[in-house]
Amino acid sequence: MFCAQPVLSKRNKADALVIPFYSVNGVTKCAAALDDSLQEVVAPALKAGFLAKRSDVHLVYASGQKEVKIFFLGLGDEAELSKDKLLETYSSLTKVLRKNACAIVNIILPTVSSLRTISCDDFIESACEGILSLNYLLPQYGEIVKKADPLIEKVCLVGVVANVAKPIYEKAEAVFDGVYLTRDLVNGNADDVTPEYLANTAKGLGKVIPGLQVSVLDRAAILKEGMGLFAAVAKGASVDPRLIIIKYEGKPSSKDCTVLVGKGVTFDSGGLDLKPGKAMLTMKEDMAGAATVLGIVSVVASLALPLNVTAVIPATENSIGSKAYKMGDVYISMSGLSVEIGSTDAEGRLILADAITYAQKKLKPTRIIDFATLTGAMVVSLGEKVSGFFCNNDILAEKLAIASEKTSESIWRMPLVNGYNQAISSDIADMKNIGNNRAGAITAALFLQRFVGEKVDWAHFDIAGTAYREKEEEFTPKYASGFGVRLLVSYLESLIS
Ligand code: BES
Ligand code: MG
Ligand code: ZN
Repeated sequence: MFCAQPVLSKRNKADALVIPFYSVNGVTKCAAALDDSLQEVVAPALKAGFLAKRSDVHLVYASGQKEVKIFFLGLGDEAELSKDKLLETYSSLTKVLRKNACAIVNIILPTVSSLRTISCDDFIESACEGILSLNYLLPQYGEIVKKADPLIEKVCLVGVVANVAKPIYEKAEAVFDGVYLTRDLVNGNADDVTPEYLANTAKGLGKVIPGLQVSVLDRAAILKEGMGLFAAVAKGASVDPRLIIIKYEGKPSSKDCTVLVGKGVTFDSGGLDLKPGKAMLTMKEDMAGAATVLGIVSVVASLALPLNVTAVIPATENSIGSKAYKMGDVYISMSGLSVEIGSTDAEGRLILADAITYAQKKLKPTRIIDFATLTGAMVVSLGEKVSGFFCNNDILAEKLAIASEKTSESIWRMPLVNGYNQAISSDIADMKNIGNNRAGAITAALFLQRFVGEKVDWAHFDIAGTAYREKEEEFTPKYASGFGVRLLVSYLESLIS
């Protein structure tokens, strides 16, 4: 919930008031115009030496105000304000407000027009997104007393730019609805978030967001389409696979169409190449690609962006059992290319290959962008903070890099090294689904590339490191991060002419 109040003295009662400070040439200054009664609150603290260090939050109590708790928020050096720093600052603020059980908060915005290093809109956007990013609760299971700090329920932005802030906050809320959806799906139990659950989630979105058309293929239909790789991975699972297609036509007059493909392995045991327990521990995260593309289309549709976007999600468990697909066997893809199974644990590229083929045969994509928790090698390469991406088109890559800059979701372009194609060659099939233990993220991408037509622009994000993390990172919470939703919404907006 949100409200905007341009007049300071007219603000409503709340649990907390937040006043911003920064340092200008080493001197701490309040970053907003305050009225006399607040000047009285601020003066002693400034005298006592509040330094306004970035992300410092200092609590004072004052009588005669509409709030009992007053927080001084340090923005750091005024000459160094930037979007990523503000995201961090305002997400730290959220943490403190939640710790203090402040459900209703008045947040004074700086007099942004005087800032030198950042525009008014950018400042407000980062502040709003920072506030929202850590205002998230994990899905709750059972009756255990909830250990998490309570959420902020109502934010009121106060100050001369409050009216400018209103649409920015409302948009950020729409974007974060998508981010939260992604996080919830990834954080949910693997036994709950099954392929059918993902399909039902998509159908549910189709009912509440205008313009979304959802269709779903079951095991028989997947086989009928000739998706031999997808069907192979799904063989061992007791839960039925689903191919989920979510179409959003925001610009019917245009032929331009972005197809988003998301890896939806709802649990990756490794299959017969069973993972050791420790490596399997977090494998409910292996549908993060699916959750990401669901998040993205839901945002694009709820913002009614004038674009055509379709999400394609191959969803299955990668299970062990007497029906499981076997290493050494050869399976035929929907494209006709044959694949020798070198490892049943390299299942992601198999289901993605068929989904990418499906997209090209049925959806006339201008570009395909896939998200997948694809390789452990990517985690080794770039860790938890940066997603590697591969791309067959420099203009697309450049636009994605710009979106990354804007959203502070870090990405790094990886090379599609042609020479490594030899590592995935096979004597008995067109290719093998594993390489030779070297450059594993690249050989996985090269495998996918073989299913992408030359005329289709393509980017592949390996989000194995960034989608799900053992600890809080910068402005995202512990566990599912929702990485990629903000990035892609920003990229897709750049396509609007
Ligand atoms: N789902 C995993 C990759 C993964 C690892 C995701 C860590 C998130 C965190 C994928 O299906 C997998 O098992 N990949 C194998 C490929 C190998 C057998 C060629 C891997 O990376 O070990
Ligand atoms: Mg695997
Ligand atoms: Zn996997």
